[in-house]
Amino acid sequence: MREEKILVLDFGGQYNQLIARRVRECNVYCEVKPFDMPLEEIKAYDPMGIIFTGGPNSVYDEKAPHVDTGVFRLGVPILGICYGCQLLAHELGGKVTAAQADSAREYGKTETFFDTGCRLFKGLPEQSVTWMSHGDYMAKVPEGFSLVAHSAACPTVGICDEQRRFYGVQFHPEVNHTEFGQNMIRNFLYEVCGATGSWTMSDYKQEAIQAARDKVGDGKVLLGLSGGVDSSVAAALLAEAVGNQLTCVFVDHGLMRKNEGDEVEQAFAKWDINFVRVNAEERFLQKLSGVTDPERKRKIIGEEFIRVFEEEAKKLGTVDFLVQGTIYPDVIESGKGDAAVIKSHHNVGGLPDYVDFKEIIEPLRMLFKDEVRALGRELGLPEYLVMRQPFPGPGLGIRVIGEITKEKLDILREADFIFRDEIARAGLEHTMNQYFAALTNMRSVGVMGDGRTYDYAVALRSVTTSDFMTADWTRIPYEVLDKVSNRIVNEVKGVNRVLYDITSKPPATVEFE
Ligand code: XMP
Repeated sequence: MREEKILVLDFGGQYNQLIARRVRECNVYCEVKPFDMPLEEIKAYDPMGIIFTGGPNSVYDEKAPHVDTGVFRLGVPILGICYGCQLLAHELGGKVTAAQADSAREYGKTETFFDTGCRLFKGLPEQSVTWMSHGDYMAKVPEGFSLVAHSAACPTVGICDEQRRFYGVQFHPEVNHTEFGQNMIRNFLYEVCGATGSWTMSDYKQEAIQAARDKVGDGKVLLGLSGGVDSSVAAALLAEAVGNQLTCVFVDHGLMRKNEGDEVEQAFAKWDINFVRVNAEERFLQKLSGVTDPERKRKIIGEEFIRVFEEEAKKLGTVDFLVQGTIYPDVIESGKGDAAVIKSHHNVGGLPDYVDFKEIIEPLRMLFKDEVRALGRELGLPEYLVMRQPFPGPGLGIRVIGEITKEKLDILREADFIFRDEIARAGLEHTMNQYFAALTNMRSVGVMGDGRTYDYAVALRSVTTSDFMTADWTRIPYEVLDKVSNRIVNEVKGVNRVLYDITSKPPATVEFE
């Protein structure tokens, strides 16, 4: 059992996952659990510190979430953030009230003053900007606590009881807008809880490999490899752990980007596993022939994918374990902590109903996306797989607008490759979250050399977003767009026009279909 662990008790705040990520960025392991985790379980978890998250409620509401007050007698340090701070004050004898409008109610960036004698603020400036979002405030601080931070509007921004090692802040140290927020979290972990920072990816890799070996024993493992980051890293981990007990089925539906199928295959060549690459291009194209409706395309591709996978799985007979690339954000549901949720937006959704297996294993279920990438690197996966941008399950099938043909797919693959290549050459990959080319179903007149052309228009799309629910179009420098456009019309036969999509989401979506 890992020794240095922090417990994040979730009161339904919007930043609960961010807190956990910040803690792990300080090389300290932590897990997010629901606020009503029973005291016995908290004791068994044996955290070196506990963080209470923010939440939408007021502590004096009838339905407000509370902790088992036994946590205050465990002798474990506690940091309360926003609602968590108010809860700490409320439970320990302070008084929390609704702030009067225009007085202690605060939202947004706020100049804040700190007592740097408090361990939480050790070594930090006495004045800096914090991110506030609270309508309640502590009218009376509990006994044993001192005031260690204030703002112009609110005298009780930070409280601490150094003896019992309880700390509370009204602002959100986990968000980037709080200037020294990460330092405060670090101080809580290192100065208060006594952490040494033993959570590293290379240690985790060893532990995860061992855990997978123990679980699998001499069983058979099946994994549907999509080529995306999560399934690739899960595959690499299992490959390292159980070698040829693992069968990876990689369905190449012919709707991959240029070289993608070969790259995925190559990345796994170093392991002695059963790597089954099913070249199903013809089969998919046949099913898609003449289909133009986007949702029908999606459905056909999804169903055919399952059929192919099922056929391959049947050849293996009964397998003991089916691997899923579930990651931690899929597991944590606000306010519910460890609610087990199997990814609904999964490229191979529905598989468990069709394949004969005994148990699911989810080797990444405790990792955030950045950590999955770091683990992939530790396992020796190439950078192009580890940093792969999101790619929809139906692949280029929804980027060839209208009817899909092999000819159109080939044109699109070339154009998309040039776009990605130029973005990489310009060093812009990290400034955008998803970027690709789509083949419109518009043909238009052009002139090339002395001749008239009547060819396709390629549309380029790039978005900058944090969650893909909303997205802004990326301001790619004109010189780069110019180069991409020139190369595409010169190098890709069948294209005489390049368009750049300058619509955000909403009203547009990221994909064209
Ligand atoms: P939209 O177009 O809905 O895209 O704004 C948001 C994100 O979802 C991806 N996407 C899909 N992923 N199957 C997937 O696995 C799909 O059918 C699908 N459609 C869209 C899209 O690439 C973007 O990242």
